[in-house]
Amino acid sequence: LLLDVALIGGGYAVGSIATAILVARALGLGDPRQSGSGNPGATNILRIGGKKAALLTLLGDLTKGVIPIVIARLLGLEDWALAAVALATFLGHLYPVFFGFRGGKGVATALGILLPLLPVLGLSILGIWILVFAVTRVSSLAALLAAVGAVPIVFAVSAATSMRLLVLVLALLILWRHRGNIRRLLDGSERPFKRR
Ligand code: G3P
Repeated sequence: LLLDVALIGGGYAVGSIATAILVARALGLGDPRQSGSGNPGATNILRIGGKKAALLTLLGDLTKGVIPIVIARLLGLEDWALAAVALATFLGHLYPVFFGFRGGKGVATALGILLPLLPVLGLSILGIWILVFAVTRVSSLAALLAAVGAVPIVFAVSAATSMRLLVLVLALLILWRHRGNIRRLLDGSERPFKRR
């Protein structure tokens, strides 16, 4: 149990490392929470700082999802403890202890968590994201459809209640964090990225 608690705390701490804020700071772009959409994530860094900065942010946020899961797996945690580590890592990204609890929307971190935890699901939602973004050029819509799609997919790929509940909670939190985007999508004011 002590190990479980340590890994849950560790996951939360790792999740709290807000890559977007660190990358923007390092590149002299200011606080991403104060420009563009105001979200500290790869999408907003793409708006503010361009492709390289966005890729770095994406990789950082993905990696911090992957690492706690891989460590927890190697140390032999049970399904429910794994789910708790996953949720703690995700919540770290949303409510980072190091950055005044004002974090991101969790898309890249959720993907980083799910790729090692449930690879078929992880790859499927990555596929959904890429497809929707390629067609619409709207990052939030791609994230929302991937989050919604993850729910039926997890019921197909895992029989574990812990995993089903985890994915349901992650999807709901992603929807909640995108409520501003949802409003903009509905009233037609969510701006797509330019086609290349
Ligand atoms: O991952 C966040 C993305 O889905 C939306 O970001 O900056 O357009 O609100 P943004």
